[in-house]
Amino acid sequence: MLVIPVISSKGGVGKTTVAANLSTALAERGFQVLAIDLDPQNALRFHLANDPGACEEGLLAAASGQLPWAQAMRPAHGGVVLLPFGTVDDERQIGFEHDLARHPGWLGDTLARFALPQDTVVIIDTPPGPTVYLQQALRAAHLCVVAVLADAGSFATLPIVERMVDKYCRPRADYRGSAYVINQVDPGQRLNHDVFAMLRARLQPELLGVLHLDASVSEALASALPVRRYAPLSKAAEDIAVCADRLLARLVTHPPAHAPPQRQETTQ
Ligand SMILES: Nc1ncnc2c1ncn2[C@@H]1O[C@H](COP(=O)(O)OP(=O)(O)OP(=O)(O)O)[C@@H](O)[C@H]1O
Ligand SMILES: [Mg+2]
Repeated sequence: MLVIPVISSKGGVGKTTVAANLSTALAERGFQVLAIDLDPQNALRFHLANDPGACEEGLLAAASGQLPWAQAMRPAHGGVVLLPFGTVDDERQIGFEHDLARHPGWLGDTLARFALPQDTVVIIDTPPGPTVYLQQALRAAHLCVVAVLADAGSFATLPIVERMVDKYCRPRADYRGSAYVINQVDPGQRLNHDVFAMLRARLQPELLGVLHLDASVSEALASALPVRRYAPLSKAAEDIAVCADRLLARLVTHPPAHAPPQRQETTQ
């Protein structure tokens, strides 16, 4: 089992988009994929679930014993299994966050209890920035996909998640490194182009790929479909396929190390 959280310092940079579309791309490539929404926004369902309306109960209800885990899992596009966060009120959410803070290894322990088949990839959508959800996901992670926009704000805030990855992931021998996806790349915009060049230079050893700014992405979301299903010939669908193939290549060429890796992976 491989646990891959999709993380970012800033909000709205495409984590949920990347988590959903990587999930279906990996399922298409023959993996069992469990996509977990570890974000109280409960938005992963709109990209992935066969029936987003049937995702009102999910992880939080199962974690508190109100719903069997098997019933919390929902069928999703491409054969992916989705564990939605569930729609919850503020008090239940805050109570859950206190529980997570008290049990830092809760997610890893829970996944271990699922006894998932060996070829399962667990993709985890997370809220932006440093949260208890991110701490949980990083403690269980074998590889992190980091979403970043080609803008000055993303560039400036990158160290926020990088510090957390350094703290919770890199010291572990089973951590295979980070994989950056630069999102909403638009070569036609001068500033975007310049920041993209800076980001690419800074992230190069761990850069997974890019996702171009493409109206198909937001249209696919409006249609509650993965991009490849909504617009299979779009630039975005091609970008996601490239990222998925490179991710698989990374996993083959970078098995868990005995010594903690220090950002020295080559992906390009
Ligand atoms: N490459 C793209 N081209 C066009 N629109 C995009 C692209 N990537 C993301 N979007 C749009 O940007 C918005 C934010 O994306 P998304 O919800 O995936 O970000 P997020 O990082 O998960 O946000 P949050 O931090 O709130 O969880 C969505 O409306 C999505 O459709
Ligand atoms: Mg999101």
